[in-house]
Amino acid sequence: MRHLLPLLILLWGCPEGPSEELQFEGRAGCEDEAHGTEAYFDETVAPEVFEPYCQYCHRSDREGPDRHGAPDYLNFDDFDSARSATALTWARVAEATMPPVGALPSEAEYATLLEFLECATPDNRSYAEELGACADDSLTYADVAPVFEARCNACHSSSLSGGDRNGAPDGANWDEPAAIRGSAELMWTYVFTSFMPLGQPDFLADSPDDALAIYDYLSCGAPD
Ligand code: HEC
Ligand code: HEC
Repeated sequence: MRHLLPLLILLWGCPEGPSEELQFEGRAGCEDEAHGTEAYFDETVAPEVFEPYCQYCHRSDREGPDRHGAPDYLNFDDFDSARSATALTWARVAEATMPPVGALPSEAEYATLLEFLECATPDNRSYAEELGACADDSLTYADVAPVFEARCNACHSSSLSGGDRNGAPDGANWDEPAAIRGSAELMWTYVFTSFMPLGQPDFLADSPDDALAIYDYLSCGAPD
């Protein structure tokens, strides 16, 4: 019976995204760190939100077709997995592309989810859609260069031209801090929405530390 519940909910849904107000409040950051803990996940967020709305597809004991296409690395019955993709999860929930079918959470359930996502972000920084304040003004390009090198510069390097750029626009070279500064807002939007790095849709979920390194660097104005 327990497993039928998500299906029933899927069947009588009527999609309608969360209110503007709620999305807006969502960027306020974490107000109570207790809402980002594994205990809060187990007692509140998993049973009230993830089980009815997400675990039908995103659950660690589901395999193959039973996942309905949900990526293997993202499971909402697993605290570490759920907290590995907080920003992406909020983006997908807020734009109402997740869950893909069926009922959407109520306002109260959205609020519960949002609190968790804000507070469970690794080391509790809010890396939401917008760049934040600079957290460490001693950062330099050298601190983040390995991430760009490993994740981006196979396409975005000043040493590449023509077809070797795989379509990356000329001048969009992430081995040059000045070019990064010129694209900072767009860059974060692309990373945050999983459009970039191109061909690595699991980047945010698998590499939250790399994503946060880019976020911190951009938030500090992409210094040399
Ligand atoms: C009916 C199955 C189903 C349900 C229910 C569902 N998802 Fe998904 N989810 C998918 C599929 C399929 C994909 C991959 C395609 C895509 O990204 O749209 C996906 C992808 C995602 C991604 C993007 C992962 C990435 O790395 O790009 C996120 C985040 C996500 N889901 C969150 C959720 C959340 C949160 C819920 C519940 C509120 C949920 N999903 C409910 C099927 C589902
Ligand atoms: C496999 C090649 C590839 C990789 C890897 C890649 N990109 Fe891109 N990038 C592209 C392509 C192609 C475009 C042009 C896409 C378009 O405009 O629709 C692009 C465009 C961009 C743009 C817009 C530039 C502009 O001036 O319009 C940004 C910002 C960006 N990428 C950031 C990144 C970041 C950050 C990474 C690494 C975390 C990354 N990309 C990894 C291929 C790549």
